[in-house]
Amino acid sequence: MLKIQHFTVEHRIEPLGLDEERPAFSYRLESDRRNVVQKKMRLVVRQGENTVWDTGMTESGETLYHIYAGAPLAPCTRYDVKVHAEDNHGDTASAETCFETGLMPRISPVKAQFVTHGFEEENLCPVLCKRFSCGKKVRGARLYASALGMYDLMLNGERVGDLYFTPYWTSYRYALEYQTYDVTALLREHNELEMTLADGWYKGELTWLRKKNLYGDRLAGWLELHVCYEDGTTEKIVTDETWQSRQSSIISSLYDGECQNFCAEKGETRPARVYAHDTGILVSQLNEPVRRREILKVKEILKSPQGETILDFGQNLTGRVEFRARGKKGQKVVLRFAEVLDRYGNLYTDNLRTAKATDTFILSGKEQTYAPRFTFHGFRYCEVQGADGLTLEDFRAVAMYSDMARSGRLETSDEDMNKLYENQFWSNRGNFLDLPTDCPQRDERLGWTADAMIYCRTACTNFNAYLFFRKWLKDVAHEQSTEYGVPHIVPNPLEQTDSAAAAWSDAAAVIPWVLYRVYGDRRILEEQFGSMRGWVDYVAAHADRDGLWKSNFQFGDWLALDMDEFSDRTGSTDKYFLANAFYLNSARIVCDAAHVLGRADDEKKYRALYENLLSAMQREYITATGRMVSETQTAYVIALCFDIVPENFRQAFVERLSADIKRRGHFMTGFLGTPFICFALTDNGRQSLTDLILRRDKYPSWLYPIRHGATTMWERWNSRLENGDFNPGDMNSFNHCAYGSVAEWLYRRLAGIEEIEPGYRKIRICPVYSAGYYDYSRGTVTASDEVSPVYMEGIDRVKGTYESVYGEISAETDYKEGVLRVKIPPNTTALVVTPDGKEHEVGSGSYVFTFGSLR
Ligand code: BGC
Repeated sequence: MLKIQHFTVEHRIEPLGLDEERPAFSYRLESDRRNVVQKKMRLVVRQGENTVWDTGMTESGETLYHIYAGAPLAPCTRYDVKVHAEDNHGDTASAETCFETGLMPRISPVKAQFVTHGFEEENLCPVLCKRFSCGKKVRGARLYASALGMYDLMLNGERVGDLYFTPYWTSYRYALEYQTYDVTALLREHNELEMTLADGWYKGELTWLRKKNLYGDRLAGWLELHVCYEDGTTEKIVTDETWQSRQSSIISSLYDGECQNFCAEKGETRPARVYAHDTGILVSQLNEPVRRREILKVKEILKSPQGETILDFGQNLTGRVEFRARGKKGQKVVLRFAEVLDRYGNLYTDNLRTAKATDTFILSGKEQTYAPRFTFHGFRYCEVQGADGLTLEDFRAVAMYSDMARSGRLETSDEDMNKLYENQFWSNRGNFLDLPTDCPQRDERLGWTADAMIYCRTACTNFNAYLFFRKWLKDVAHEQSTEYGVPHIVPNPLEQTDSAAAAWSDAAAVIPWVLYRVYGDRRILEEQFGSMRGWVDYVAAHADRDGLWKSNFQFGDWLALDMDEFSDRTGSTDKYFLANAFYLNSARIVCDAAHVLGRADDEKKYRALYENLLSAMQREYITATGRMVSETQTAYVIALCFDIVPENFRQAFVERLSADIKRRGHFMTGFLGTPFICFALTDNGRQSLTDLILRRDKYPSWLYPIRHGATTMWERWNSRLENGDFNPGDMNSFNHCAYGSVAEWLYRRLAGIEEIEPGYRKIRICPVYSAGYYDYSRGTVTASDEVSPVYMEGIDRVKGTYESVYGEISAETDYKEGVLRVKIPPNTTALVVTPDGKEHEVGSGSYVFTFGSLR
């Protein structure tokens, strides 16, 4: 039987407030048969009784990204969509979905104006209020809201929606998101609407420089409430000069935390006033909003030597602590947050730098739930002061991050690998609060571009992160310029006109390409092509006559262990070798993207650039006898993985890299070398060395932090020292994604699931521990000189699952039993390489392959 599942509109299920003029429809086929492919399909879009688009029954093998091509969509309108599909076995299935358009400000100007409060200062969060009545029976109501600042909304005393920290951080000069809520159930005859505003990213302090008022110095709200009555009439309540304002008793700061006083008198009311600000920048929110996700109970209540009461939630996370309590009226409860305790058991907050990360509540004396509204913290521990009479067990930690669907899972028979995988997953959660951030706790929490690039592929396997990155990439493009290239941080709070830097700015080219490969939606390349090409053109304009880039400030192999003698943060790999390597990689990506988009001239141009640059790099950085000029692990890793090494020197490079790792017994790599090192070894027949570095637990290694209690990935290989002290550097986060990028190797090689064609339309299943190794450059299985069963002990079983855009892919290898179980979704095919080196081409379905035990 054929079924249609996961019918999406623009990558979302039944979206509300969609501003896309030509949304794309996608769905997944499910069948109990094998080798299922779609043969025909039909899509019909209706608005009420009218058909606005009908593809007719069409010969088509495509289940993804059918782009709407009907009559122009109208704002604030519901559309119903039906799909009918037929497969190669003659089975048929249908499914229905719907979507509702948003205000579409681009085609229809909005009515509401921005409104600000009537007070001089904004120390206390202002509240905008409006009373109104609904005289008739309500059929439906939509609320569209945004703010210069952050807002939350109460309608008749109830919180509107379950979104937090809206509107999210965009490059506010170009775009400001509005959110859409269905408030039908909240409306009464007499209504009171309250919009509380906080500084947020718009005017709150940002970066270690604590820059304030980055985008403006006044908070303002914007809102339209559309009420449709049963009798077919519509009424709009919009922010305008009829609104009132007052001051709340909340003081909020992203870095410092929040103070809420429930004993304060309700302040005076003053008229709100219209605030002139362009409404043309309003755009409907594109990606998944931030929601409350995992809820964690107190694991242990600790007493520190200094007498502090500390709650241990057992997991480092990003979010907030909530508690339900009565307490005494006026009782002051203070919560201080930290990721770690020092070796004596005290709260350690030095690594938060200037971020005070403290929430204060003056209790009302009535039973209620307390939680900050406009701030979040990165923490595992919470010190509670003034908790007399409160039940500490009732406190809970709530992880908050972009509500993306989980797509990857990995489980092995090895506890260390499972923990490593789990830790990176928690860092993913902790750093994907609408932006790909570097860290969630100190006075940064910024969209550092390299951090996003390094981890992008892993994040896209953990979660469906297409919309998350699509939203951020729009800002990359907004903030990029011909003069300065791509900034180091997006959105850019430094207003930096500093020179762009390799690997950081390369996010502009790499991330769209990863999204295309993982999700198969070529529209991301269309959308970002100008930005991708713009970045490569920027470098080309700064290159020397020989084509090499030798200027600009460079971060280099950030935090590598072979530190540059002049820097405590950059590894010793030649920075311009790395700059040119990433430039080369981006040039190749732009050439490949041009090919996909059918831009023949661009393809030719960037191919020529790529080829010239490759020769120039080989001349400059590789000696005539086959050695790297910059002899570091990272240099060899990058030369191998970016195909900079000429084929005749490949073996020599592998030898030199291997010899160095063997001699030291560990890696030396930083941000740039680490994501690639396991691939460089495994894909060149040195799986035993991947094993060595992956399963080592002494410093430096991935497992060392785990032995020291890590529940997320650390920023530095030794964020915590052997003796329990902390790395003395002032940059020391316990929740950083970069080194978690090893999970890409866990998915693609250990579990062995990766795409051959974009979107995993063609899949390769090739679990890594085999009698041979898969030579990715040649596409064949080659006998390995290195793989020895000794290194495989302990990882007897690996199961990886990945929810691709076509459906679930899974690969479970049991090396003891000698069995590989595989599941391939309809409309895809797979090349399965069993550990005995045999290759099998299969269509969709479930299969069991036996290969003889390797144990
Ligand atoms: C961030 C990094 C970032 C780096 C670049 C740090 O403060 O946390 O992850 O890439 O700065 O300088």
